[in-house]
Amino acid sequence: MEPKKSPPVCDYEGSDYQASFWDQGGREYEDRTEAIALKRLLPKSGQLMLEVGAGAGRNTPRYSGYERVVLLDYSMTQLQHAKARLGISDRFVFVAADVYRLPFVDELFDGATMIRTLHHMADAPVALSQIRNVLQPGSVFVLEFASKLNLKSILRYLLGRQEWSPFRREPVEFVALNFDFHPKAVHGWLKELGFRIEKTLTVSHFRWAPLKRLIPTGILVTLDSLAQWTGPLWQLTPSVFVRASLGGERNESVLGEIVQWFKCPQCGNSPLIDHTSYLLCSSCGSQWAIYEGIYDFKTPLNKSK
Ligand SMILES: C[S@@+](CC[C@H](N)C(=O)[O-])C[C@H]1O[C@@H](n2cnc3c(N)ncnc32)[C@H](O)[C@@H]1O
Repeated sequence: MEPKKSPPVCDYEGSDYQASFWDQGGREYEDRTEAIALKRLLPKSGQLMLEVGAGAGRNTPRYSGYERVVLLDYSMTQLQHAKARLGISDRFVFVAADVYRLPFVDELFDGATMIRTLHHMADAPVALSQIRNVLQPGSVFVLEFASKLNLKSILRYLLGRQEWSPFRREPVEFVALNFDFHPKAVHGWLKELGFRIEKTLTVSHFRWAPLKRLIPTGILVTLDSLAQWTGPLWQLTPSVFVRASLGGERNESVLGEIVQWFKCPQCGNSPLIDHTSYLLCSSCGSQWAIYEGIYDFKTPLNKSK
């Protein structure tokens, strides 16, 4: 069923996120520890991966075991950055859409990731249920979330420097459309959707500027990679990765033409009809543009008609 009114979106349109936050932001430690966690959690191979909130494609090269990857992001400019960074390849398909209204037919993908993106979800259970719908039986979903139960927030709370309790299960919105979650709440949502939590890794144990300045990055990364294995025991880091899976057997190859992967995010109808520069929904009449190889499912071309 389509959600009625989508929650608000944290819009990255026009943002220089990849350059300012990653390339020049002093986050080599975070990037390398995330790469280690992903390597430990991703299946060795797969057919079609959905990368939710792909941004500028920082993680996409890490999904090399998958035959094809769909990069989905709300921001057209982030996808343009990703396209420029990844180069021309049939392996990648670029889709601008809202995770709350995914434009894919049910049970299409055999893998999905969502890294540093749940963080922006005002209604995380709805976003997760949308991802669940497009995953086949037997799929693996690797989810990263920002944890409110991290050591820094616990200490700040105990010292009276922070009002909200890191021990309560509800999400905390510390800046508009930026949320930290309690690990038990996220685990609970995944289980309600039928996922089995197979692995939990805690990541970025040493995300503290003075430590990062004093100790060489390679040493911090090695220590973090060892500490990640404590994930199933306790989660006190700002970032937590889980590998969740769905029971059942994966489908045989059913990929077919790309146009067959989509449904109309407005009315749910599929298949859409390919008119080269746009996809047409024969049920509600919406026209979904294709701009320079990016499928745009945010607003139909003919919305005002
Ligand atoms: C912090 S960035 C992370 C990008 C990438 N996953 C990474 O780790 O480098 C969050 C991304 O989520 C996207 N995003 C936020 N809300 C979204 C939504 N409702 N639907 C789809 N993408 C969304 C943003 O456009 C942004 O590119």
